[in-house]
Amino acid sequence: MSESITEEKTYKPTSPNSKLDFQSVWEYDSAPESSANLEIKDQYQLFINGKFVKPEKGRYFKSINPATEEEITEFAEATQKDVDKAVKAARKAFEGEWSKISGKTRGKYIYRIARMLQERAREFAIAESMDGGKPIRESRDVDIPLVAAHFFYYAGWADKLDYAFPGKKPEPLGVCGQIIPWNFPLLMLAWKIAPALACGNTVVLKPAETTSLTAMLFAELVKDAGLPDGVVNIITGAGQTGAAIVNHSGIDKIAFTGSTTVGKIIQKSLAGTHKKYTLELGGKGALIVFEDAAIDQAVEGIINAIFFNQGHVCCAGSRLLVQEGIADKVIMKLRDRMESLIVGDPLDKNTDIGAINSKQQFETVNQYLEIGVNEGADVYQSKCEIPDSGYFIRPTLFTNVSQSNRVVQEEIFGPVLTIQTFRTADEAIEKANNTPFGLAGGVWTDKGSKIFRVGKELRSGVIWANTYNKFDPTSPFGGYKESGVGREGGLHGLAAYVNLK
Ligand code: NAI
Ligand code: MG
Repeated sequence: MSESITEEKTYKPTSPNSKLDFQSVWEYDSAPESSANLEIKDQYQLFINGKFVKPEKGRYFKSINPATEEEITEFAEATQKDVDKAVKAARKAFEGEWSKISGKTRGKYIYRIARMLQERAREFAIAESMDGGKPIRESRDVDIPLVAAHFFYYAGWADKLDYAFPGKKPEPLGVCGQIIPWNFPLLMLAWKIAPALACGNTVVLKPAETTSLTAMLFAELVKDAGLPDGVVNIITGAGQTGAAIVNHSGIDKIAFTGSTTVGKIIQKSLAGTHKKYTLELGGKGALIVFEDAAIDQAVEGIINAIFFNQGHVCCAGSRLLVQEGIADKVIMKLRDRMESLIVGDPLDKNTDIGAINSKQQFETVNQYLEIGVNEGADVYQSKCEIPDSGYFIRPTLFTNVSQSNRVVQEEIFGPVLTIQTFRTADEAIEKANNTPFGLAGGVWTDKGSKIFRVGKELRSGVIWANTYNKFDPTSPFGGYKESGVGREGGLHGLAAYVNLK
């Protein structure tokens, strides 16, 4: 960094005619979404073979609302025996009715699920925000619409698989074990279940232990949709339950999204078995901003890249690489924009940044804040008020960091952005590629040729140009290096659920 940024140097609009007031922060009255119409049971059972059944050992675990630390409900802890029961139900369904019906009929079931999700969208959005802490604006406008879009998209493929793989005969894999994380609970469920069903597979899915509510509401929806018993089984539990799914011999494919650490454990235990797998793991996305970029647009992109969903995003843009000549200006504009972000009640429609998903993740992010400071970084946090209870962290910038710092190399998974500068495109590419990950990245420049050049040399599964965190069911998603194996979404996502003859 050419010079350090001090508190006093707040950005002022250059035009004397500008009516924009960057110096004061607007006050908003609270606009809470009501949760009165959402029915949450005191206790949820396992969804196996089309029925809600008690867990073998009768053990349950609590789920809390991370914004209030209050208990919401409790979920069943599935043991090995319960996993076995679910796998057997899925096998029976696979070999029975589900494999005999036509692709067209499978498609009708998936369309029905998509439409029912739209009908219950508000209920799902509120539940997602209460159980996981994400702002209602995001669960309502991003997560749930994308969930429905995924089911609609893959419903369309169910009777057209022969066209997806010309000259080949696609066959379903069988029973798929699917393990998902807590950052996009229902969306990750959709990414997993929709293509699996479209290709004629049956599934045993386990949601993450801190966010199982929408998966259980989805199980109720599946029952209401009249899907044949055993096609979708949803069982709750923590890592042990996940491991029991991974190691079950009756499973043909494992689809996992989560940490790189657990991904490596899973990959090891699958080595040498017949099971296929896709692993979607961590990331440390670089945001490369060139001097010729539209700066205000870039600043909006950066804000969205790192603060969307509290930074709990595998493809989050958590490292800003900004060209030296504009670094000070970009940082000042970024800090001003950060002051306008509202951190607080996830159910408030004005909230931009909700609660950190769990106590454990709250502690992890706080540890990284300490690590950054101990590594000699300068830290800047927005001055916003945050609630007294619940797990909240102010949007944070680290400047004066170097490539080898842990905060630059490791996935923090919170609202924390590191900032480095570069002089040439080659230096930006070198720095962007210099982490163990390769999931996503962003490039901001006015020059199309630069987008293609830099985009081609970044070792990342997704590159956004002059924007960030845009998702669509038709686009494949997945990583290089330690960010994972295989692709989800689009046509690529179908390929992961079929054998081609
Ligand atoms: P995690 O990888 O432990 O959890 C993800 C899922 O895997 C959960 O459903 C969990 O129950 C299950 N699981 C845990 N251990 C397992 C095992 N041995 N076998 C099978 N399934 C298992 O992630 P965690 O601990 O919740 O988060 C830790 C860090 O992981 C975060 O700080 C973040 O950096 C990263 N993470 C990345 C995600 C991504 O989308 N790339 C999502 C969640 C976490
Ligand atoms: Mg919870």
